[in-house]
Amino acid sequence: MKIIIDKEACIGDGICESLCPDVFQMADDGKAEVIDEQSNEPCVQDAIDACPTEAISIEE
Ligand code: F3S
Repeated sequence: MKIIIDKEACIGDGICESLCPDVFQMADDGKAEVIDEQSNEPCVQDAIDACPTEAISIEE
C-alpha cells in the first residue's frame, strides 16, 4: 500500500496537512507531498475524502 498525491490535480488546498500532518505536508511548490507513504492512520481516509480535487489516492 502506498499513499500518492496527483501533483497535477492538487491545487494546494492544504486540508490534507491540517487533517493528517504526520502523513501530508505542504512542499515548496505549494502542493502537498506525502511524508509517510505506508501510514495506515485513519486520518488518511479523512484527507482523501476532504481533498477538493480528489488528488490523494491509495495504490494497493
Ligand atoms: Fe492538494 Fe488536496 Fe491536499 S488539493 S494540498 S492534496 S487537500
